[in-house]
Amino acid sequence: MCGIVGYIGNKEAFPIIIKGLRRLEYRGYDSAGVALLNGDLTVYKKVGKVSELEKVTDNHQLTANIGIGHTRWATHGEPNDVNAHPHLSQSGNLAIIHNGIIENYAVIKEVLVKRGYIFHSDTDTEVLVNLIEEIKKQENTTIDEAVRIALNEVVGAYAIVVIDKTNPDILVAARKGSPLVLGIGDNEFYIASDASPIIEYTTNVIYLDDQELAIVNRNGQFTIKTLQNVEKSYAIQKLEMTLEAIEKGGFDHFMLKEIYEQPKAIADSLRGRINAQQGWIKLGGLDEYINRIDKAKRFIITACGTSWHSGLIGEYLIEDLARVPVEVEYASEFRYRNPVINETDVVIAISQSGETADTLAAIELAKDRQALIYGICNVSGSSIARNTHAGSYTHAGPEIGVASTKAFSTQICILTLIALQIAIQKGTITTSKFREILYELENIPKKIEEVLKLDAQIKELAAIYKDANNFLYLGRGYNFPVALEGALKLKEISYIHAEGYPAAEMKHGPIALIDEAMPVVFLATNKSAYEKIVSNIQEVKARKGKIIAVVNKGDKQISELADHVIEVPETEEVLSPLISIVPLQLLAYHIAIMRGCNVDQPRNLAKSVTVE
Ligand code: AGP
Repeated sequence: MCGIVGYIGNKEAFPIIIKGLRRLEYRGYDSAGVALLNGDLTVYKKVGKVSELEKVTDNHQLTANIGIGHTRWATHGEPNDVNAHPHLSQSGNLAIIHNGIIENYAVIKEVLVKRGYIFHSDTDTEVLVNLIEEIKKQENTTIDEAVRIALNEVVGAYAIVVIDKTNPDILVAARKGSPLVLGIGDNEFYIASDASPIIEYTTNVIYLDDQELAIVNRNGQFTIKTLQNVEKSYAIQKLEMTLEAIEKGGFDHFMLKEIYEQPKAIADSLRGRINAQQGWIKLGGLDEYINRIDKAKRFIITACGTSWHSGLIGEYLIEDLARVPVEVEYASEFRYRNPVINETDVVIAISQSGETADTLAAIELAKDRQALIYGICNVSGSSIARNTHAGSYTHAGPEIGVASTKAFSTQICILTLIALQIAIQKGTITTSKFREILYELENIPKKIEEVLKLDAQIKELAAIYKDANNFLYLGRGYNFPVALEGALKLKEISYIHAEGYPAAEMKHGPIALIDEAMPVVFLATNKSAYEKIVSNIQEVKARKGKIIAVVNKGDKQISELADHVIEVPETEEVLSPLISIVPLQLLAYHIAIMRGCNVDQPRNLAKSVTVE
């Protein structure tokens, strides 16, 4: 949520910032703005996309070697020009960009108003910049010290960067709860919400920790200190991401590119971690804590959105294969409902971004109660990756489309490996079954390639149903979470109302919705539930619903019943979600495109939800 980029050095700041904002636009796209310091501190900002900001800056003198930029996902105050960032302090000497929420802004604002401050926007951010200004004045201190003191007074989450017109040689950045990466160039620094604006210029980065400040200087020096004013040592890390990975590579949209990347993403996720022929799994994060994980009395999986759906599949996998009880919790509920968590529990936190505020808070809660925390994240160096005891990266590569696709399938891969590893260790699976599943896992990328060849057929289906007002997705067993995920994909990018249900639950309510205008997508690839799902299809057919069924290749029975079938290659039942989700991703994509929706940046959404 909200993208932040800052630059200080000898290059022109504006082009770097604008390019960075375009790369960060997936984080929020309500409005965008930039502040440039070149003697004067000038702010340009505009509601709408970064392209709107560019129109505003056209024909202006934009020369500066220091600047900050922001792309916003509104929290306090509607998206408009005034609420857009950067915000200036009352004197016009300070400019700030901010990602997060200052919870006690109202109290601080009241004090500042009494001291004569006038506010122009509805944002908490304008309060923060004026608090910094007031402290700087009252304490007669430097900008970095004023920022540090101010941040000790605020409650909430933030990643901020501040420019001071009276000290044009430094940028001050700080974080708590929202990510911030410092890129170290040759006598120059880049600051951003993630590495995508930085990768083009340097691979040397430092991920700031919570409650840390970075003070970066035009002459190439920098200091990192805590909010308690203690200087910190730091580790410079090498970025592994490539520029190519964050570009569209010939696809019209990131989402489509990422759907098509799934065979590679899954292969990358499994690389070096399994060997079917030799019959082993090696999941680094798991090895270190295997004794504690093996003895776990219970697993609790916590996540949000699509990651929560993969968590549900994790529950089916771990209980089915390893016979250990699992609970799956929405992080936002888990953190506030005073759950029972024991020292013998293992909490698995799943997050593509590794920055989701609720998931992070759930981790903190479980840590306090002494559980072992295992993270499954895609973004290296992310907060969740750094705040867990152990974990595995999904290695899906950057996922930029707001609708999660390849992150979902790679999360399932990791959960499958965890379940299999515990199962073989505990003896709840035979060696031959273990090997069969491993062989089949190795085959999954090829099978997904086959599903991707159905794209044209799925596009035709999309054309038939693009104007539907509602969709129902039904599945049983391993395909129930897939039904939920298929429905989420459709609603978030096409704005069509869609519900996912366990197929048998349909009779307990949703069946009332079915008429000749209702498309019902059945996931019918799991053999163990085949006859049951055939009955559910009959029930929908009897009520004239339109049936789209995802079936195994060569299926006869359902093909005769359904209005449309999508035939996918058969696989082991425990792996079926990896195959059956792909047609649903493509269906959602094509319907959204046909409805004229912006699939990569759907309305009201942001890629990484860093506020609760
Ligand atoms: C999925 O398409 C969504 N955009 C969303 O539900 C997402 O999965 C959720 O916000 C969790 O994000 P995370 O995986 O980065 O924690």
